[in-house]
Amino acid sequence: MKCRFSAKEIPTILDFGKMPLGNGFLDSQVDDEYFFNMSVAVNHDIGLIQLEEQPDPSKMFHQEYAFFTRTSNFMVEHFKNVSDEIFSLLNESYSSDNSKYVVEIGSNDGVMLESLVKKNIKCLGVEPSKNVSAVSKKYGVETYEKFFSYDVSKEIISKHQQANIIYAANVFCHIPDINDLAKACANLLKDKGMLIFEDPYLGDVLNKISYDQIYDEHVYLFSCHSIKNIFAKYGLNLIDCKNLTTHGGSMRYYLVKDSQFTESNHLINTFKNEISNGLLDLNSYKEFARKCDFARKKFKERLELYKSNKLKIVGYGATSKSTAILNYCDVGCELIDFIVDTTPIKQGKLTPGKHIPVKDYANFIPHPDVSALFAWNHKKEILQKENNFKGKWITHLYNDLLD
Ligand code: TMP
Repeated sequence: MKCRFSAKEIPTILDFGKMPLGNGFLDSQVDDEYFFNMSVAVNHDIGLIQLEEQPDPSKMFHQEYAFFTRTSNFMVEHFKNVSDEIFSLLNESYSSDNSKYVVEIGSNDGVMLESLVKKNIKCLGVEPSKNVSAVSKKYGVETYEKFFSYDVSKEIISKHQQANIIYAANVFCHIPDINDLAKACANLLKDKGMLIFEDPYLGDVLNKISYDQIYDEHVYLFSCHSIKNIFAKYGLNLIDCKNLTTHGGSMRYYLVKDSQFTESNHLINTFKNEISNGLLDLNSYKEFARKCDFARKKFKERLELYKSNKLKIVGYGATSKSTAILNYCDVGCELIDFIVDTTPIKQGKLTPGKHIPVKDYANFIPHPDVSALFAWNHKKEILQKENNFKGKWITHLYNDLLD
């Protein structure tokens, strides 16, 4: 395929085969369930994995989007910390600006902006999925129900103003036209403004072999090298980064327009680590693909062994990532009885592609013998909550399948 950023021809590294939408939960089995062929290619010059084919965004982000940030207490806490950081930044760096303005792209249910609104900061959320943006509005966050783009950035400026801070979490990796996105951010940002965003980090995916970060919504997996290259083309300079534990390993990026920028020591070290960890080397991606294939076979074999020993297996967390795991590993109801999840909109439905029933997590009791932890990125929170569970936790991750 041609790289969406550079238009250069780039190699395919992994083909997952036929895949449904990660959040395409079904009321009942249907004949016309949507599938696409999911394969990924890499631009290893800049450390950027991308989906070769991505379904039309309107198929994924609509009035029944199944992901609500507020379902995880840990994530609510995380976004409270983000809003505190933005609030401090506004007071420290923009104290003389009387029209401070914060825009969040992909504001979901408004959990981050809500705290800023309460502190009388003027904010705008941009969120195309109407059911989650309705929740955001309920919490007093003005929300634009659109897909963010260069044209939308112009609309926001004409109706409102440019932003001191633009923030986005787990959204930029969803937006296929990365050039338009970077141009839109540069346009919307004040000259002295700051763009802050975070996404699952390619370095963690390669390290943990967390291939489940690759699904229809994640058109990209970024590295610091790729962010530096993409955004510099539009005059936005990467000055700092922060490693995060969210989503199984994410990176937060800090970018400014100021040409007198300096890179933080942490960023300089991260660039060095990306090189020494092979993020700019095609062989690392070939190794990644080999390990994914190993983990795929091993995960199913483990479940089959438990099943043949008559153990009861239940999934924990009907995550969009679990759709990638179940379909790639070819695991369905013959191995997993049901999956528990706290999100009401998912309960009573069937998982995409494999049609495993999703139930309220009250059904976790009586406890099964084995629980496949699909929400592995919330392990700490879930293990604390389920400390009475004495059965076996299992994940699809390469390192957990080695023993
Ligand atoms: P995520 O990995 O995309 O954040 O999705 C997490 C999913 O796991 C979401 O559907 C909610 C579910 N979940 C639970 O069922 N119980 C929990 O304790 C947590 C933290 C998440």
